[in-house]
Amino acid sequence: MKQVRIGVVGCGGIAMAKHLPAYKNNPKATVVAFCDISLERAEAAREKFGCEGAKVYTDWRELVASDEVDAVLILTHNKVHCEMTVTALDAGKHVMCEKPMATSYEETQRMIAARDRSGKLLTVAYQNRYRPDSIHLKKLAEDGTFGEIYYAEATAIRRRSVPTWGVFIDEEKQGGGPLIDIGTHALDLTLYVMDNYEPAFCVGKTFHKLNKQTETGNTWGDWDTERFTAEDSAFGFVVMKNGAVINLRASWALNYVDEKEAVTLICGDKGGADMPKEGELRINGVSHGKRFITVPELSAGEVDFFAGASEKPMDLEAGCFIDAILGEGELCVTAEQAATVTRILEGIYESEKTGKPYYFN
Ligand SMILES: NC(=O)c1ccc[n+]([C@@H]2O[C@H](COP(=O)([O-])OP(=O)(O)OC[C@H]3O[C@@H](n4cnc5c(N)ncnc54)[C@H](O)[C@@H]3O)[C@@H](O)[C@H]2O)c1
Repeated sequence: MKQVRIGVVGCGGIAMAKHLPAYKNNPKATVVAFCDISLERAEAAREKFGCEGAKVYTDWRELVASDEVDAVLILTHNKVHCEMTVTALDAGKHVMCEKPMATSYEETQRMIAARDRSGKLLTVAYQNRYRPDSIHLKKLAEDGTFGEIYYAEATAIRRRSVPTWGVFIDEEKQGGGPLIDIGTHALDLTLYVMDNYEPAFCVGKTFHKLNKQTETGNTWGDWDTERFTAEDSAFGFVVMKNGAVINLRASWALNYVDEKEAVTLICGDKGGADMPKEGELRINGVSHGKRFITVPELSAGEVDFFAGASEKPMDLEAGCFIDAILGEGELCVTAEQAATVTRILEGIYESEKTGKPYYFN
């Protein structure tokens, strides 16, 4: 069987925890090249996940130019996603880029143009779509269970879990804080379930209220107040062209007890659904004059598009990309969908800057 040869740019947290275990698990893929500006990190990743003879690079341009690589995973900080993705596509490689796709809508359009020039695949790593609760919710939305969805909440709220490693809290390198980091997952999931990618306008507010506090109670240890330049919370209200609205809430640190991350809530004219937390789903409606709430059992049988293999979201994500490259399936996350997520997030940041609603074209 032909194996897709994978090259990885960025061997940090998400590479080691999600992508590399998933691609190593996939019999149709082999990881042949590892790049990080830290040689030590690249070597550690090769040691654990590389095939025999796998190469190590410290210059990402050399990796993406290599004839020995079919597909590249871009797993670096947000600000460099666009340049690396465009260069890899122009070098004839398929690309999976970590979320958010980029730090501006303009960048996403350059990435899509590169995809179109190259004829290669481009997808973005929104693994929350592959959770059993998300897969089931999407199927119900598609079969009309909810009717017309006109109200949604996209939520990613942590009480005190600011990522203190890498450059997450650095506004300049990441392009934002929790909104672009975890709000992006909640919004992606919400748009996917609504199947609505046509925003009309939005209003947004971001807050820097806790990032200069020193007694933090943070899950990953106190943050560095000097380096924490990104917002700590952000809230947006998005109006879609068809009149539907989305209330988007994202925070790494908020005095709010009911934490939930990457969840959605949708209300349609026939029924609704919410995720009390990640992995849980409730469906609500009215039947024969009585209100009901059902809680589906989200066991193994739900996953049918990658039968016989692991059902972990990260394995399904990798499997979907590999199958699409091999012509055995379709991408789940299209670049256009991911670009719309970035477009809306940018609109919320712009609204904060101007103090006015942001209109999409
Ligand atoms: N899908 C998810 O749920 C999820 C979770 C965490 C992070 N992410 C995304 O993954 C990306 C990376 O996050 P992370 O947690 O792995 O960060 P990280 O800081 O742990 O790792 C990033 C790695 O990239 C390397 N790097 C930086 N510049 C480079 C360059 N020019 N060439 C080669 N390597 C370079 C760094 O040395 C580091 O090892 C971000 O875009 C983030 O938003 C996604």
